[in-house]
Amino acid sequence: MIGVLVSGAGSNLQALLDAGLPVGAVASNVPGAPALDRAATAGVPTGVFALEAYPSREARDVAMADWLEARGATLVVCAGYMHLLTPAFLERFPDRVVNVHPALLPAFPGAHAVRDALEAGVSETGATVHLVDEGVDTGRALRRETVPVLPGDTVDTLHARIREVEHRILPEVVGELCDA
Ligand code: GAR
Repeated sequence: MIGVLVSGAGSNLQALLDAGLPVGAVASNVPGAPALDRAATAGVPTGVFALEAYPSREARDVAMADWLEARGATLVVCAGYMHLLTPAFLERFPDRVVNVHPALLPAFPGAHAVRDALEAGVSETGATVHLVDEGVDTGRALRRETVPVLPGDTVDTLHARIREVEHRILPEVVGELCDA
């Protein structure tokens, strides 16, 4: 069963659900994130693990791992999850935590990848699905796909085209990991 971590709109979560993948739990660090509504609509249990509710980041991550494990998660997908995961979480799912990132890693890691690529003036960027380690978007890439930067692109228009790619490659890679 797949546990999905979300912080925002949840369009990548929706792509996983629409692909018929076995999403069994959705956790968020952001109370009220629209992604939680998508999970609820699909009948998937949701949990909120806001940092402020715990004495430390590790304590939050342990609680979140406990919750996911109790629901049978054996693979975790970060789908627009915007907090770093501590070793306290990662050691619970060794080599089984995957992230989707809106750039061609190792270029433009971090929380503002689309803006950073535009500001750098590159002619192409893309999307990466990668394993998560303790670094900022440093884990081994499982899939990368290029997206051209077009004249007149804004962060929103470029991100929209990157999301289209993400919605295709994330379910593909996650499906392969489920089958493996
Ligand atoms: C996605 O584009 C994802 O790659 C990005 O956040 C967006 C979430 O969209 N993640 C990161 O930037 C992580 N560093 P969504 O909530 O609609 O799936």
